[in-house]
Amino acid sequence: MVSITRKAEFSASHFCSNPQLSPEENRALYGKSAGPNGHGHNYVVEVTVRGEVDPVHGMVMDLKELKAVLEREVIEPFDHRFLNREVPPFDRVTPTPENIAREIWRRLSPHLNQNGRRLYSVRLYETPDLYVEHYG
Ligand code: NI
Repeated sequence: MVSITRKAEFSASHFCSNPQLSPEENRALYGKSAGPNGHGHNYVVEVTVRGEVDPVHGMVMDLKELKAVLEREVIEPFDHRFLNREVPPFDRVTPTPENIAREIWRRLSPHLNQNGRRLYSVRLYETPDLYVEHYG
């Protein structure tokens, strides 16, 4: 098995609060991130696909195709958006890095799991020194 990883960036605003909790509870949990004013991050996402190397074309998957899927399913809908207000499900689901990585996984996996290869991980950096990683 071989894995390939593609990296991309998007900038987005968010705040972290759970509508089921009170404003006080949200502030205790999320601190300054609790909103309602958003703040921005330059997110970096690394998508890893695993599979066998195709004996004919010598690749796990066509890198142009991986780039196109990532652009279409994640970068275009997320870039320069206010996640809580503009990108479902983050009107209902708190856009923590964990939940953003899970949503990226949900959007990508149907397009990548084919021809003997599978989405292996989605790593999302919220800052250069913090990342979360989602596995299937
Ligand atoms: Ni934040």
